[in-house]
Amino acid sequence: MRHEHLVTAKQLSRDDVEAVLDRAAEIAANPAAVRERHADKLLGLLFFEPSTRTKMSFETAIKRLGGDVVDMGSVDSSSVKKGESLADTVRVIEGYADALVLRHPQEGSARMASEFVDVPLVNAGDGAGHHPTQTLLDLYTMREAADGLDDLTVGIMGDLKYGRTVHSLANVLTNFDARQHFVSPESLKLPRSVRYDLHEAGAKVRQHTDLETILPELDVLYVTRIQRERFPDENEYRAIAGEYQIDADTLEQASDDLVVMHPLPRVDEIAPEIDETDYAHYFEQAHNGVPVRMALLDMLLENARGDEE
Ligand code: CP
Repeated sequence: MRHEHLVTAKQLSRDDVEAVLDRAAEIAANPAAVRERHADKLLGLLFFEPSTRTKMSFETAIKRLGGDVVDMGSVDSSSVKKGESLADTVRVIEGYADALVLRHPQEGSARMASEFVDVPLVNAGDGAGHHPTQTLLDLYTMREAADGLDDLTVGIMGDLKYGRTVHSLANVLTNFDARQHFVSPESLKLPRSVRYDLHEAGAKVRQHTDLETILPELDVLYVTRIQRERFPDENEYRAIAGEYQIDADTLEQASDDLVVMHPLPRVDEIAPEIDETDYAHYFEQAHNGVPVRMALLDMLLENARGDEE
């Protein structure tokens, strides 16, 4: 992979994905081999929105590579509260760190910020835009659980309008010629821009308002949370909340090998009774964030080192 920054999943070719996933598998098999690999490196964490998995797995990843983090901390305790712009903030923090990880509520913020810095910048979620490292760990999980990424039939259900993990995943699945079934209420369909990207890529796509008819065909069911925080009108959220949930009864029509995934956090989309079944892969998916982000950081930091020499 030869990118300075990772700001959108649209950057990721099939070769890029395979390179990161292969490196992640090597690291997962022998983490001791990379324990001191980036011993002098600092990763700058800039999280303008809440996060558990992405922030902590990036922190774990750099520490397991021998490095450390410098963390901007909460927006409330930073100079963002005094009105400092995102451009100034990243320009300052690139002087403290060897790479930056940015989560921000504004779509397009990662691309804009990347134009102000020379160190690698990774988009950890920009509003309802993209979340490319989530896609890498989603594909790693899918590859392990479904025994490869080719010829898959994938159902993606829930909030397809605001769900940035969906926008990233749908784009990258086109590199693997997946059949994609999108299941959502009419009001939360994929945005026009994402549908356009999929059309341009020649993706095999169908849209549905209920899961029942296509469930038996699926190899993977990727469930997402309705993104309450992104609804301009709380009443609109309430009208939809509670729909698009799965439980043991729902999965009676599924293949025994179905892989159920979710980027997490979940609210009530997947009943806890599914957690102990062979369908459930979402906790393993979250854990896979560490080797995948280790692989990505390793490659970006190596590229940056090569550029300095
Ligand atoms: N999947 C994901 O991005 O989780 P967090 O919001 O906890 O980082």
